[in-house]
Amino acid sequence: MVDTKDIAAGYDRVAYIYDEHFATPQSQAQDREVIDAVCARFGAMLRTCDVLDVGCGTGWAIDAFDIAPARYVGVDVSAGMVSRARLKFGAHSFAVGSLEIATLLAKRDLVLCMWGVLNHVPDEDEHEPEPYYLDNAVSQLARAGRHVVALVACEPESFLVSMGFEAHDEACLGRAFNACFAEYHIARLRLAPRWALCFGSH
Ligand SMILES: C[S@@+](CC[C@H](N)C(=O)[O-])C[C@H]1O[C@@H](n2cnc3c(N)ncnc32)[C@H](O)[C@@H]1O
Repeated sequence: MVDTKDIAAGYDRVAYIYDEHFATPQSQAQDREVIDAVCARFGAMLRTCDVLDVGCGTGWAIDAFDIAPARYVGVDVSAGMVSRARLKFGAHSFAVGSLEIATLLAKRDLVLCMWGVLNHVPDEDEHEPEPYYLDNAVSQLARAGRHVVALVACEPESFLVSMGFEAHDEACLGRAFNACFAEYHIARLRLAPRWALCFGSH
């Protein structure tokens, strides 16, 4: 299991400026590309299904996909990020906790894990008996829902490096998604080529 104390502390420190940092025209264009790609595949479902947002941060996905409170639960290890999310989206449900707790909740139609949450999970650790942390994390997401959407950085992004960020290339992501899903698709973004958008369906 990944120790998330440092991750939570890192995000607690930046929670109050997190949204501002991404309020740039470049970020908004990248957001648009992701939103369009996810909606092209899951648009109908996003309007009607139950969504679990793992590593929800300040609630980016609620805005991006216009998810109604009754169909949304967000989980994040950072109490600071969750408290910003609660300020912005008072009617939505949030819990402070790690992605492991996702598997304890009722299974959802769609699990979102957006903008680098999985980059806080190392790929492998040769000193541990259970070496593939990334595989375990994807399998936890897979157990939490019928479909999983994850946006993962394939090359280091400076903003997150100080918080223990790890890049995962398509080979690692492919191995993890292939083990968990009947069907999966992984593609780099055009406007943000360091990022890969991953879809997995049972
Ligand atoms: C880069 S932010 C992305 C936030 C949000 N998904 C978004 O799209 O804006 C990563 C978030 O993942 C959370 N996080 C990192 N590791 C986590 C874990 N194992 N379980 C739950 N949340 C985690 C962090 O606290 C942080 O809020």
